[in-house]
Amino acid sequence: MFLEPEEERVLNGEFGETRQQMMELLVGLGRVFGAERLVEIASAQVSGASYKTIGQWGLEWLEGLDARVAVPTMLNPIGMDRDRWREMGVPEDFAVKQEEVIAAYANLGVRLECTCTPYYLSITQYGEHLAWAESSAVVYANSVIGARTNREGGPGALAAAIIGRTPYYGLHIFANRRPSIAIAIDEPAAVRDAADYGALGYVAGKLVGNRIPIFSGIRPNRDQLKALGAAMAATGAVALFHVDGITPEARLPTFRCDGLETVEITMAGVREVFSSIEVDAIAVGCPHLSPAEMETLAALLQGKKVKKPFFVFAAGRVIAESRDAVERIERSGARVYADTCVVVSPALDRFDAIMVNSGKALAYVPTMCGAVARIGTVEECVAVATM
Ligand code: F3S
Repeated sequence: MFLEPEEERVLNGEFGETRQQMMELLVGLGRVFGAERLVEIASAQVSGASYKTIGQWGLEWLEGLDARVAVPTMLNPIGMDRDRWREMGVPEDFAVKQEEVIAAYANLGVRLECTCTPYYLSITQYGEHLAWAESSAVVYANSVIGARTNREGGPGALAAAIIGRTPYYGLHIFANRRPSIAIAIDEPAAVRDAADYGALGYVAGKLVGNRIPIFSGIRPNRDQLKALGAAMAATGAVALFHVDGITPEARLPTFRCDGLETVEITMAGVREVFSSIEVDAIAVGCPHLSPAEMETLAALLQGKKVKKPFFVFAAGRVIAESRDAVERIERSGARVYADTCVVVSPALDRFDAIMVNSGKALAYVPTMCGAVARIGTVEECVAVATM
């Protein structure tokens, strides 16, 4: 693998042991995946931010690092709202450990903005190279924005953040971004709500694995693209998808459905994902809510009172910028928590059955929270919470 003279010096340890280790990790990854060189990145997003997912070993590894990040770097959601963790029901010993994880990332110069929707906080451009780790953010950056990132692991994304470069392979290379399987839906007009797109993604992810699908016939908006991609990244290993006539690269003449193997998904199959089991809590905001989704939820909860715990998750900055909607949501008794989520917080482990409006949460809640999960539209979530 070719390295610039400066990169060789980092590898030889001239800029400290941590940078040397991080460069070794990048070069090792690059060799495994056949990268010919490194490429500069515009930003990084690091997973492994919740103490629930990284534990004591991960915390000690972070505390042993001695370097600063070289590019703007954000974090995945942590295990609690840093101001309201008691109200969430997070145990005190967990909160102490979570603060230690935060302090370790702060020492590395990582921005303490902890979200799976970093694209709402930093301007990310078409064609830009990134090293992002959160699978739902990766698929959004690649598909909806047309930026370029592989699905990084937490250490790989942090190494790229510290070095400011990542191995040039996979989805960084334009030729590797072409669709490889076409998906047709028998009733495309029936896919309307973000939950429909989440359920469609839940089904599609299992079919396509790590291939690059191109959908036709559907007309999702950006929030619905977010739901579709997050679910496919959870049940499959999808890091990029296209929607004919909608996503930026699908407008390129070489990125077409013609000649590809085609799989049909029936809406009858998608509807089977929905159920009507009893739940004892509701959680929306997976991935974290956009300002528009916050407004929609506020309007739906207007004048109502929730009778079950109702958790809403979003990036702290989106919450700060949506104060009016947040107040209206909280008047109903629902609670809006910053920089944490249904899956990575221990707060939801106490429930037996959780209703979500997300295909990704539907896939992860059973294993990560030990609860049964039910998916419904956001209107159905509000109806179940208030009846
Ligand atoms: Fe985000 Fe947590 Fe869902 S990280 S995509 S809200 S599982």
